[in-house]
Amino acid sequence: MATIKDVAVRAQVSTTTVSHVINNTRKVNDANRARVEDAMRDLDFHPNALARSLRSGSSKTIGLIIPDIANLFFAEAARYIEDYGKNAGYSVILCNADNNPQKEASYVQVLIEKMVDGIIFISSGDSAHNIKKLQSNNIPVVFADRDVQDQPVDTVMVNNQQGGKLATEHLIQLGHRRIACISGPVGIRVSIQRMHAFHNTMKEHGMSVPVAYCTEGDFGFESGERCMRQMLARGARPTAVFVGNDMMAFGAIRAIEDAGMHVPDDISIIGFDDIPLAKTYSPPLTTIAQPIKKLAKSSVDLLVKRINKKNVHNMPEDYQRVVLDVKLVERKSCRKVAA
Ligand code: RIB
Repeated sequence: MATIKDVAVRAQVSTTTVSHVINNTRKVNDANRARVEDAMRDLDFHPNALARSLRSGSSKTIGLIIPDIANLFFAEAARYIEDYGKNAGYSVILCNADNNPQKEASYVQVLIEKMVDGIIFISSGDSAHNIKKLQSNNIPVVFADRDVQDQPVDTVMVNNQQGGKLATEHLIQLGHRRIACISGPVGIRVSIQRMHAFHNTMKEHGMSVPVAYCTEGDFGFESGERCMRQMLARGARPTAVFVGNDMMAFGAIRAIEDAGMHVPDDISIIGFDDIPLAKTYSPPLTTIAQPIKKLAKSSVDLLVKRINKKNVHNMPEDYQRVVLDVKLVERKSCRKVAA
């Protein structure tokens, strides 16, 4: 692999001149600059990124830790975060925690060693100790999508209570009274926020929710299928189900069809996220749309602002909490019923 000295010899300049061309740290006359650039290209020379980071104190990289790359919500979010990070001049290192706090912790260590300039963090659950480790290493952090209780950290998320209420009221307005709920993992705050909104809205409308109508999934397709199948097997026959995310909603639809019934003829299903698959699913899914692109942009913007504050990292008195609105997207998985 070519070195800075090889470039200097070929361009007939000093290694100092080559370094000034690479780092733009001093004006170099056009003739010398051109010879250095030609030599770097001919020798396929690439500056050592780690050496540059050590010199400049900035790696121009940000870390992104997500719970589950197999969940299309996180894949969509990661895609936009990578786009916006690149536009802001940062490479993005994607870390998939597989919903595993230990794996999440190992990636926190990797990102510290890689000297990332900041981290966008979507928690897999119990992340407080990982956050403290990042703060003790003075690395700027933004929580995206999922907040972590009692943590004075910049956060960008959606209004999950608003989404749970919109979904439940939509089913009630369609005439449904026997409404069930398949929630995400109760260890994740967004699941609790959506589930509480469902129960509070049902209560506001004077409706009860039988215990058999309340089940907990893990945000994956199979858990939605299992929860719906178990509900039907117990003889619970809701006319509608509010599901805590789209992936589980797709699973619930599969279980209903496997039981010889149809959506929405027999049971209406409403999801949460509005991932791209929702509009092409069969039937196209009525859901609560999260502004995933806006969530990504707000997270990157907040992190870059924090990074540029230079050593004023995650100071409790100035952290920000951005809560974005969600909206109901009506498609074909819900229908009116006689109240
Ligand atoms: O689909 C995954 C869910 O977990 C989404 O609703 C998102 O909000 C994430 O927290």
